[in-house]
Amino acid sequence: MTTRREDGQIYLIAGATRSGKTAWMRRNLLQHERALIWDVEGEWSQLPNTYTVTSVSYLQELTQAATPGKQYHIAFVPGGNLKKQFDDFCRIAFNWGNKHDKTAVVVEELADVTPPGKAPDAWGIVLRRGCKRGMRVYGITNRPAESDKTIIAQAAHLIVFEQRRALDREYIAKELQIAVDQIPTKQLIYIHKNNLERTLKVDSITFPQEYAPPGVRRDYAGGACKRPPVVLE
Ligand SMILES: Nc1ncnc2c1ncn2[C@@H]1O[C@H](COP(=O)(O)OP(=O)(O)OP(=O)(O)O)[C@@H](O)[C@H]1O
Ligand SMILES: [Mg+2]
Repeated sequence: MTTRREDGQIYLIAGATRSGKTAWMRRNLLQHERALIWDVEGEWSQLPNTYTVTSVSYLQELTQAATPGKQYHIAFVPGGNLKKQFDDFCRIAFNWGNKHDKTAVVVEELADVTPPGKAPDAWGIVLRRGCKRGMRVYGITNRPAESDKTIIAQAAHLIVFEQRRALDREYIAKELQIAVDQIPTKQLIYIHKNNLERTLKVDSITFPQEYAPPGVRRDYAGGACKRPPVVLE
């Protein structure tokens, strides 16, 4: 990193299952040229114009080969030891973000890979040092009480969808310093607390979305089509 970059931003997206988190993320990813997605459910890899990668070594290779000025949305579908792969994923994401301004990192199901305390290893580095490098970091979780607290402390933006349990609504209201009745109780409705601008807005997700433009799926090497590594144009 040599030149001064615009500060990055961290988002925490929380909400019950099927509340609208991934749909929100799809809408917001459109604005990013480079994005690396921890796609533990293999949902993102189904989208057109998204590279699918299933091995750490190919992820490394693809991020190194990615040329500036072209859109790279890379869905990494992990398998096996999730925690080890997550650490590798975060290291690669950090290095990619260090090289290119405004690199986005999306982590689905944060609670699978982070404990309810301090963020582990490379994920902690992404959260603590990514903003300085202009990274856009998005952590997605059902219940923030179950995932790391570093992200809550560092997030400039808290996007909160429906919470079904009263205890979860109370927990989040306390973290956000808002009244419990401001936490949504309906699917596809969310609040956005912007800690930089000190604003709180209610909004909703509507369909159809614009995320998936016409295009083809692309599997990169270790992905489903198992073809050998290719040189990227
Ligand atoms: N393209 C679409 N068109 C219509 N409905 C959709 C579309 N994408 C998602 N939905 C619906 O919107 C709701 C929210 O889906 P979404 O995948 O965003 O949930 P989520 O909060 O990420 O849930 P989970 O925690 O289970 O991943 C679901 O009922 C889903 O079926
Ligand atoms: Mg989801």
